[in-house]
Amino acid sequence: MSQSLQVDPAKLAASKVAIALVQDGMRLGLGTGSTASIMVRELAARVQAEGLSLRCAATSKATADLAVELGLRVETLDQIGWLDMTIDGADEVDPDLHLIKGGGAAHLREKVVAAASDRMVVIADPGKVVETLGAFPLPVEVLAFGFETTRTLIRRALDHLDLGGRDILQRLKGSDPLITDEGNYILDLHMQDIPDPAALARALSSIPGVVEHGLFLGMCDLAIIGRSDGSVVELARDADIDADMLAHEGE
Ligand code: 5RP
Repeated sequence: MSQSLQVDPAKLAASKVAIALVQDGMRLGLGTGSTASIMVRELAARVQAEGLSLRCAATSKATADLAVELGLRVETLDQIGWLDMTIDGADEVDPDLHLIKGGGAAHLREKVVAAASDRMVVIADPGKVVETLGAFPLPVEVLAFGFETTRTLIRRALDHLDLGGRDILQRLKGSDPLITDEGNYILDLHMQDIPDPAALARALSSIPGVVEHGLFLGMCDLAIIGRSDGSVVELARDADIDADMLAHEGE
């Protein structure tokens, strides 16, 4: 692989194992973030070396731009229709393979693409593996219209779930509101921990101004966790996560 920049060995290891799952003729969803961008580079290198014929749908403008630049065939999700597999990163992965995503503000498209895939494969480094979701602030994409009202409704929903007092902060880019690829705002919910992800997901989804939250429950089929020594651990749902994985290898 011809990457001149220093590449995180754990993310690279996970990417390589995920790319080995790709077969000629596949329709692939391409995730967003630093791990996904390493995966896209690995994928492009394999396509070039082996002459694979793939159709790719990207989960963000940034990923689409990178994939096109590297020579991958990128089409819209609707042009492709359905995907065999999506490979994406994550901000947190729990033992049930429930995820927090959206650290890159792309979880709306990421969820749409994952939902249109036979298989969602997550690639991550050990720092993403947790026992309980919530240390990473939960991203919620909201309409710009009435977003303070939406924040109030989210606060009330959290109170109702006995999760009151959490900070709900608008994500900024510099000093301006961050605008997603779909033209919306992001509110980051500093939950600390999420004892019942399904209840929180239901509550957030019932608020009209919420476009999509970053809880991915029951969507991930396989998590490939790379380690800095180049080895990987593959987690299937309900797998025991050993203590070493949670030690984050000193990261
Ligand atoms: C983007 C995402 C990313 O997959 C997530 O933030 C992980 O990113 P990285 O690989 O850079 O840690 O959900 O919305």
